[in-house]
Amino acid sequence: MNYLSPSVLSADFSELGNDIMMAVDAGAPWIHLDVMDGKFVPNISFGAPVIASVRKVTNAFFDVHLMIEEPSRYMNDFKKAGADLITVHYEACENVEATLYQIRELGIKVGLSISPDTPAEVVKPYLSMVDMILVMSVYPGFGGQKFIQSSLDKVRVIRDMANELHYDDLWIEVDGGIGAENIVDVKEAGANVFVAGSAVFNGDIAKNVKMLNDLIR
Ligand code: DX5
Ligand code: ZN
Repeated sequence: MNYLSPSVLSADFSELGNDIMMAVDAGAPWIHLDVMDGKFVPNISFGAPVIASVRKVTNAFFDVHLMIEEPSRYMNDFKKAGADLITVHYEACENVEATLYQIRELGIKVGLSISPDTPAEVVKPYLSMVDMILVMSVYPGFGGQKFIQSSLDKVRVIRDMANELHYDDLWIEVDGGIGAENIVDVKEAGANVFVAGSAVFNGDIAKNVKMLNDLIR
């Protein structure tokens, strides 16, 4: 299955609930929520209270991307707020394995993300512990950046690794700079979850969701 996961970072925050409902009604099965702490990344976005508020407007699958240092401190808060999947950064965890285990213990899906400068191979020891690997195709921190082309190679490496080890159900998500011009390349490289922020929320949300959904069918 392929999933479009619109990133609300590019939504109008004064209309956050409505923008999310519009994306979901148009066919987005997931919603990507970018949490930034101003430490792991040079930007601050929102935290668990905002997620809990928008949880009330939709049953869509909440894909929470934590760009924060030492995420283990806050895991419970995000689960309580309504996360269906929590993704942490390899670079931000003191103990990756323990952090992944902590998410698993909460009874939700587990994701591990790598930033553009982190090689694909580092995820190998963790494949048995996760539901999803998130390959960042921009430097985390901001929406609207240009897609880093070499991310496609990383997706291919991880998909091959997963196939070899028989993790056939592994989700591979790609995040940053995705739009109509490259989403098919991302799919062909082996990804099945596609984050799009500006390509969904800039302009006609429903039309954008439908167009991107058609391309990953
Ligand atoms: C960047 C975030 C992304 C971002 C994607 O750090 O993780 O989810 O919002 O936005 P676009 O699709 O505009 O690159
Ligand atoms: Zn993200």
